[in-house]
Amino acid sequence: MSLPDWKPQPDNRIELPDACIDLWLIDLNPADFQFPSSNNTILAQNELERAGRFRFDKHRRQYVAGRRGLRQILAKYTGCQPADIQFEYGEHGKPSLVNQPVEARVEFNLSNTNDTALVAVAKGMEVGADIEYVGRKMWDIDSLAQTVFTDSEIEELGQYRPDDRLVPFLSGWTRKEAYLKGIGKGLALPLKDFSVRLKNEEDFPSISAPEWQLFSFWSDPDHISAIAYPERAVISTFRWFRLPATG
Ligand SMILES: CC(C)(COP(=O)(O)OP(=O)(O)OC[C@H]1O[C@@H](n2cnc3c(N)ncnc32)[C@H](O)[C@@H]1OP(=O)(O)O)[C@@H](O)C(=O)NCCC(=O)NCCS
Repeated sequence: MSLPDWKPQPDNRIELPDACIDLWLIDLNPADFQFPSSNNTILAQNELERAGRFRFDKHRRQYVAGRRGLRQILAKYTGCQPADIQFEYGEHGKPSLVNQPVEARVEFNLSNTNDTALVAVAKGMEVGADIEYVGRKMWDIDSLAQTVFTDSEIEELGQYRPDDRLVPFLSGWTRKEAYLKGIGKGLALPLKDFSVRLKNEEDFPSISAPEWQLFSFWSDPDHISAIAYPERAVISTFRWFRLPATG
């Protein structure tokens, strides 16, 4: 397993070259985490309200830490202060930045699982991201695959021994989610409407849904991730950054 070499965040504003996607990891459980109060926060009022609606503190913390991290990351690309970042939302809830020049739009997508979030940032093209924790005891993978995988995906999964199916299952799952998040439809598009290959393919002929590419990687030994981006994009570089934990 080769792992990305996550670098500390650059001190200065980040320029994103055309053929590049930046990937960020955020620690969602920093030691000094504190819930925000309305007069001392970089979050917007609607984010505070959403944070207030979570039933469990764990999910509230994940959301707040994720949004803080996302704002800090996007501030690096836009030159805004983190508190001044403004989001708008697509029909199915995909967040994007307001007031962006069309051809140089900073696009992003966030995914979280347990204590880690992955953010993908690209310029002038949609991007989707998904991260899953592989350490948890998994449900009955074969039954779950019947529910969410197409026949070709189930067949590919069946080529692995039953005890070895967790990673290929999560690989396929993250690839499907990354695609659904890239196009912005999320689970509004049925998971069985398109197929992916479970293994990474060098030449990306891996998705029957048209015009998108997928790239899978291990974020760390416990997390498998995938990103999706348009087929027309010729991506030559991925850059890897880790956001320091902040309360
Ligand atoms: C998008 C979706 C697949 C995310 O699934 P998940 O595995 O639970 O969550 P992840 O951690 O991978 O991603 C969550 C993040 O994706 C982003 N997101 C939300 N909706 C999105 C969408 N439609 N497309 C892409 N990204 C989306 C947000 O940044 C969200 O983070 P937040 O909760 O902190 O705001 C799922 O929430 C979904 O299907 N949403 C669409 C529901 C819908 O159709 N709503 C219509 C009315 S708004």
